[in-house]
Amino acid sequence: MTEQNQPSASPTRRRVLLRSRPDGLLKGSDVELVSEPIPELAEGEAVLRNEVLGIDASVRSWLGQGSGYLPPVEIGGVVACATIGRVVATRCERYGLGDIVTTLGGWETHSIISDDFFSTDVSGPDPDYDFVAFQALYGSTGCTAYIGMVEVAAVAEGDTVVVSAAGGATGSVAAQIAKLKGARVVGIAGGEDKCTWLRDELGLAGAINYRGEDVKARLKELAPGGVDVFFDNVGGDILNDVLARIAPGARVVLCGHIATYTEDEPSPGPANYVQLIQKGATMTGFLAFNEIARFPEIGKQLKSWHEAGDITVRVERFDGLENSVDALNAMFTGANTGKILITLQ
Ligand SMILES: NC(=O)c1ccc[n+]([C@@H]2O[C@H](COP(=O)([O-])OP(=O)(O)OC[C@H]3O[C@@H](n4cnc5c(N)ncnc54)[C@H](OP(=O)(O)O)[C@@H]3O)[C@@H](O)[C@H]2O)c1
Repeated sequence: MTEQNQPSASPTRRRVLLRSRPDGLLKGSDVELVSEPIPELAEGEAVLRNEVLGIDASVRSWLGQGSGYLPPVEIGGVVACATIGRVVATRCERYGLGDIVTTLGGWETHSIISDDFFSTDVSGPDPDYDFVAFQALYGSTGCTAYIGMVEVAAVAEGDTVVVSAAGGATGSVAAQIAKLKGARVVGIAGGEDKCTWLRDELGLAGAINYRGEDVKARLKELAPGGVDVFFDNVGGDILNDVLARIAPGARVVLCGHIATYTEDEPSPGPANYVQLIQKGATMTGFLAFNEIARFPEIGKQLKSWHEAGDITVRVERFDGLENSVDALNAMFTGANTGKILITLQ
């Protein structure tokens, strides 16, 4: 990543701007780290000093030509992501100095916010606020897992549930929620270390290392009566393999398809989709983003489970904007267990 400084007497912010659309993984030469003055605030705006940036798979989709659920980041624009921080200057009635706010900001030390759709007040001034737990669980990551597992899959006691990318941020929370609801949960993840974590620390009934094991054969062993709920983060071959084992009346929930996010061509549909007919099953996609107004309420439930020790989170922390490219790529190489974060302060 090249770095550019713009000398200025006014307060400055650092930002990572997109210079070219990535082909496959993001390269350092696709972005530029710049230092620039923080813009003068207009009436109704405030400055958020970001503490922790959340890295999720959508960030990569917004750098492409427009396959994500939001418009692509423009060339020259800041790389977008979910941020949380404290208000350090304000001309907006909604935010007081020191308030803690989350927003769709970017890879930047300071974001300009207003009374807008994406910005949510999380707390008043709180010197001990746990920004990491917010990004890993109480914010969009945990809310996605909750909405997908509780509301879309309607997971119930006794269900056999399979979660793909179960060692990642969303998957690990979804798997634990299913377990809390009385389901028997099997995770699919890339690597023995992740599988050991899923079994030994999260207490899942089983874990399949898709990089080293035959997924179909292992599913037969671990879900002999079939799969009632499949929470899919991956798509591709894994979706096909699990479809082959669904139980009558199964609910297949499409959360994401990370196996194809770095590809230019649209992914082919799952060859095994006819299983839905034979098993009278449903396959439903969802976008947690559409429920953003409910995140604070869902976040409270997640927080209480976390505080009671019923949900564990792990984070993969990268320090500073200089490491933002590595942070994003870790998601696609599977280097992360749990939530990927960039800490700024
Ligand atoms: N529907 C929604 O509203 C919504 C909202 C947020 C996120 N999502 C989706 O949720 C999924 C997880 O996102 P996240 O942010 O929590 O990321 P994450 O799970 O923390 O990281 C992504 C994980 O995916 C796995 N992976 C990457 N490439 C893969 C491949 N080719 N085949 C199989 N596994 C692969 C990697 O783990 P391994 O080591 O296991 O390979 C990696 O750790 C994504 O698909 C994302 O788009 C959906």
